Amino acid sequence: MRKKVSIIGSGNVGASAAQLLAHSGISDVVLFDVVDGIPQGKALDIAEACPLYNSSSSVKGTNSYSDTKDSDIVVITAGFPRKPGMSRDDLLHANADVVKTAATNIAKTSPDSIIIVVTNPMDVMAHLTWKTTEFSCRRVMGMGGVLDSARLRTFISYELNVSPEDIEAVVLGGHGDQMVPMPRFTTVKGISITELLKKTIIESLIQRTRNGGAEIVSLLKTGSAYYAPAAAAFQMVKSILLDEKRVLPCAAYLNGEYGMKDIYVGVPVILGKDGVERVIDLKLTKEEKLQFRESCSSVRKLIKKVIK
Ligand code: APR
Repeated sequence: MRKKVSIIGSGNVGASAAQLLAHSGISDVVLFDVVDGIPQGKALDIAEACPLYNSSSSVKGTNSYSDTKDSDIVVITAGFPRKPGMSRDDLLHANADVVKTAATNIAKTSPDSIIIVVTNPMDVMAHLTWKTTEFSCRRVMGMGGVLDSARLRTFISYELNVSPEDIEAVVLGGHGDQMVPMPRFTTVKGISITELLKKTIIESLIQRTRNGGAEIVSLLKTGSAYYAPAAAAFQMVKSILLDEKRVLPCAAYLNGEYGMKDIYVGVPVILGKDGVERVIDLKLTKEEKLQFRESCSSVRKLIKKVIK
């Protein structure tokens, strides 16, 4: 039986993720949007490239949730992207309505699915999706850390002139501005960057990573990043569909891990066929704990605004 992945929101991130999935051939893809024509047009365009990628994936665009029925994985990208000068949190209320509607429909049409939330502010939207669907927390997660760590790996590779493939980066906490980087666990072929780079350089790379989304928003002027966010979501989908059990930083529900309860926030997890199969509970230093707690408390403040 072919696997089915539905993507809610056929904008830049959603369509790019659909393209990666369809052209890799690992699943059939359904692209959903509220705007008539957009998902149908983009799906047809992606489908017409499948022969060129030797992919047998089917790609369908739709405005009806019934077409997403019995999806194995649903990726929520629906909502509004950031505009210049706008923080992710400005998007909070507008996107909360969109995500709530999507989650309600997914719970009805794909009650056994695993959901990956991309819409920002992502940690909060993941929490809201979990609450709305009442799914097991293992089956709801957010995409943020994979993107943040990919950005950090990119900037370290520029600085050291080494392949980003040989760099591993660990980030915790809320996505984006609230990210808590872990330089001592961030390595180049196993060597911590704390041994390879001066503290001031590490700080500047971290700062650039925190601003990674905003840097792209200010360059594009209209719209926000989508190639890397879509690639990050694709990596998560692949780890689940193929039961790869990759260790990836994702927004996951904490129930005592890292001393936190009842919150979705970025931590390293093992992603496999059951979703979040394990949260990896790293032992943090005093200073790291403090930063992590601060990040959690800003995420929690936003959660309280959308979940009464
Ligand atoms: N249901 C489904 N789709 C919706 C809904 C809804 N209720 N409301 C809006 N959409 C669709 C829009 O029609 C649009 O096609 O969501 C899509 C969003 O696409 P873009 O505006 O291109 O935004 P994108 O860059 O894809 O970002 C989407 O991902 O990374 C985050 O911050 C980003 O929250 C934003 C999300």
